[in-house]
Amino acid sequence: MSITILGIESSCDDTSAAIIKDGKLLSNVIANQDVHKAYGGVVPELASRAHQQNIIPVVDQAIKQAGVLKKDISAVAFTRGPGLLGSLLVGTSFAKAFTLAMNIPLVQINHLQAHILVHFIKELDNEKKMPEFPFLCLLVSGGHTQIVIVRNHLEMEIIGQTIDDAAGEAFDKCAKVIGLPYPGGPFVDENAKQGNKHAFIFNKPRIKNLDYSFSGLKTSFLYSIRDNLKKNPDFINENMMDLCASIQYTIIEILMNKLELAVKQTGINRIAVAGGVSANSGLRDALTDRTHNLGWETFIPDFKFTTDNAAMIAITGYYKYLKKEFAGQDIAPLARFPL
Ligand code: KG4
Ligand code: ZN
Repeated sequence: MSITILGIESSCDDTSAAIIKDGKLLSNVIANQDVHKAYGGVVPELASRAHQQNIIPVVDQAIKQAGVLKKDISAVAFTRGPGLLGSLLVGTSFAKAFTLAMNIPLVQINHLQAHILVHFIKELDNEKKMPEFPFLCLLVSGGHTQIVIVRNHLEMEIIGQTIDDAAGEAFDKCAKVIGLPYPGGPFVDENAKQGNKHAFIFNKPRIKNLDYSFSGLKTSFLYSIRDNLKKNPDFINENMMDLCASIQYTIIEILMNKLELAVKQTGINRIAVAGGVSANSGLRDALTDRTHNLGWETFIPDFKFTTDNAAMIAITGYYKYLKKEFAGQDIAPLARFPL
């Protein structure tokens, strides 16, 4: 019998619903929330309200696009956390109500685990090679930066993580200093393509184990800009491309150095990358470079699966459904939810 999973994602500012049937993606609808742009960051109260408005039309569209009927859905998988509590509550309540009405199982999903499992989404028109176990995954998003050993679909262990800011946060905070819109990561990436990555040198952390730190880099960037602006008020405009190229290069160097150390320590050279920052062209190039020069086998997700989406929630739900890992109706979302 076929297994059809409806996935629901509402952890931050994207409302998304997806249908996965027997591991194959049939639809993945995402409604972005433009309302936050004017504030330079996500406003939690506005995010939960927008989820309330979007959730029913988004789910409706996902079911229609997939060409399935509500009665064909075997279970609903929803993001339990980590994320903004008010946002998570919308997806959680919707998933509970839907499963109660249809008398089908409810599956709770860790958003971080789901980011990693994008590598197992099968698409009808695009047969991609999936990583064999065990593999290492560099999970880089706006809120998290971790190196994870993935032993099987549902068994993962963090072997290194940031002790302060996440890599996406470093991109966004540095972008803000030079006046780029929020979230700044994609703008830094675009500008960096035309800049000299060696034009400026910023501080890198000196941590011996596999942990990351990005707060020192952010401060070094801020002070350097402040000092240069004193000498030349037009410094940012005159050096925008080089500043973006240099900060991006430094963030990627920090990420890749630890990843190389993790490969040495574990002896695993199958490397996947996931999360919003995995859309970064410099990071994707650095991984491809290691494929050619260090013999790594690398797995880089399609752009559409790098940022938050419900397809990743549905695929994780599919593997949990196979193991009959169901949740009760008394389940509550968690703002903090470690992997
Ligand atoms: O995974 P995600 O969509 O949301 C979280 O769960 O955090 O990641 C969002 C982060 C933001 O910090 C954004 O600036 C960053 O991913 N990002 C990028 C790029 N695209 C998105 N950072 C650098 N280069 C990009 N091309
Ligand atoms: Zn995410």
